[in-house]
Amino acid sequence: MCGIVGYSGHRPAGPILLEGLRRLEYRGYDSAGLALFDGDRQFYIAHATGKLDALVQRVEGTLPPATSGIGHTRWATHGEPSDRNAHPQLDPDGTIAVIHNGIIENFEELRARYARGPFHSETDTEVLAHMLAGAVERGVDLLDALRGVVAEARGAYSVVAVAVGEPGRMVAARAGNAGGIVIGTGEGEHLLASDLGALLPHTRRVTFLEPGEFVDLCADSVRYVDIEGHELTKTIEVLPYDPVSAVKGPYKHFMLKEIHEQPDAALNAMRGRYLTGPLRVDLSGDIPFDAAWAKALTRVVLVGMGTSMHSALVGRHYIERFARLPAEVDNSAEFRYRGPVLDEHTLVISVAQSGETVDTLAAMDEAKRAGCPQITICNSPGAQTTRVANATLLMRAGPEIAVASTKTMVASMVLLHALALYLGRLRGTLAPDVEAQQVQAALHLPAAIGAALNLGGQIEVLADRYADSRDFLFLGRGLGYPAALEGALKLKEVSYIHAEGYAAGEMKHGPIALIDDQFPTVALAPRDDVFDKMRSNIEQIRARKGPVIALVSAGDRSLEGVATDIVEMPEVDPLLTPIVAVVPLQLLSYYIATRRGADVDQPRNLAKTVTVE
Ligand code: M6R
Repeated sequence: MCGIVGYSGHRPAGPILLEGLRRLEYRGYDSAGLALFDGDRQFYIAHATGKLDALVQRVEGTLPPATSGIGHTRWATHGEPSDRNAHPQLDPDGTIAVIHNGIIENFEELRARYARGPFHSETDTEVLAHMLAGAVERGVDLLDALRGVVAEARGAYSVVAVAVGEPGRMVAARAGNAGGIVIGTGEGEHLLASDLGALLPHTRRVTFLEPGEFVDLCADSVRYVDIEGHELTKTIEVLPYDPVSAVKGPYKHFMLKEIHEQPDAALNAMRGRYLTGPLRVDLSGDIPFDAAWAKALTRVVLVGMGTSMHSALVGRHYIERFARLPAEVDNSAEFRYRGPVLDEHTLVISVAQSGETVDTLAAMDEAKRAGCPQITICNSPGAQTTRVANATLLMRAGPEIAVASTKTMVASMVLLHALALYLGRLRGTLAPDVEAQQVQAALHLPAAIGAALNLGGQIEVLADRYADSRDFLFLGRGLGYPAALEGALKLKEVSYIHAEGYAAGEMKHGPIALIDDQFPTVALAPRDDVFDKMRSNIEQIRARKGPVIALVSAGDRSLEGVATDIVEMPEVDPLLTPIVAVVPLQLLSYYIATRRGADVDQPRNLAKTVTVE
């Protein structure tokens, strides 16, 4: 959470920082602020509560011609969203400005020890400015001062500081796993940001700060040190991302745009991995493990949060079926505290579109300590999960800006399918004809997802009918169960309607008490081996007058007269159904949310990347 951006160069910094914040706004959007060097004796500081537009309005016509400065967009952890809690935070004399992402766990203790005057905010950030100012006043160099501060400030965070009297200089540190920092090198300029999106319009030459590393940069120089001050040699990476895809195009919202990008997301995930002639999966370019290694595996644990955990639940089915390994799924935040039983034959697969989710990183650390081999499925090249895992399957879905994950779920389910097939082949548990049939079926996915998008008109009619509902139930069995969980998550996060996802068999053990004629249910009822059971569940709900929207297989009319509304999903292999079924569920959430006037791309209280526990 929180977006950080900094610029030092020869161009006016203000507009560059505001544009950078616009690209980072999805990370936090309850307030924003800027600090620019206004000559060499003072800062120009601006804060505004609310979305970035409030800051843009506030600074209009007042920005100094500074060529360096820092900016921040906030997701509140300590203190309400307000001007005084917005970053940058300053020391009492206004000589140091600090922006920060993550949590300083011992900030109260530090406040008691290092206060140089009254604190103006409730943030855990402000004390860092006090500490730095104290050190600089004692003649300590700014970078050394920051090393001293980080040595004392406990937690997982990243921080950037600037000092009056040193225009153009910026120092930054990354402590632990919360939110990374990327440094961009341009022509006579350097930038830094909490993620790539803010840098790509300016440069593709980037360097990632690892936990425990510090950077000291000016327009034409950059140096890296560790916590002890030892110089580090870091290599510049040249990235391929296309910044154009980060704009909304003809769509009203990023969420809708990203829903429509899903055929491409599936295709890009498959490219070079699902092969024809002969039909097979080849992940040898991503995963450096061989058959002996795969045969020695005894178990798979999948971890993730939110939508990524729902993908993992789909992946579990694939792994058990194709690789014949016992597989379990854990919520990353629960996993680490349970003292999980792990060893070097347990493959840990993490799913995280951002690659920066702190809970998932903590779960991966736990697995690393136990010596587990790890594969991560991630959409952000260079993100932290990709640095911890032994191998990465990049989603290649392009930037996902809407807070609600859509295309990255599709990409991750495709990759879990590919991984399960590949492990199955390496382990000798997958018959070649099954692999060929599954590859053929997967190659149909972009078309099937495209056909699911054509359901938009019908879904809009349903959205009109059900937009005023107070509650929703989503039911599924087998592979329909994770899709039901995802349908409920999507609806609640973008429309604020209370929704619950349940394994359909569980319904009669409690949730059925909620059913009445005002409580709609979305039932995933494709023609698979549990269809008859789903049908019974739908009849049980209808007997209690609950409306049911049934998602059924293409051409299946058997629920007509049973369910209230029927949505026919496009034809797809039964095992791949969830990858297609999530599309009408996403559309339903989207259209209901827009009818309720909700802020679809930036739902209240949420952030795209969750870097706090
Ligand atoms: O970046 P990650 O995939 O690790 O993020 C995990 C969750 O925070 C994320 O899926 C969240 O639940 C989304 N808002 C769901 O749409």
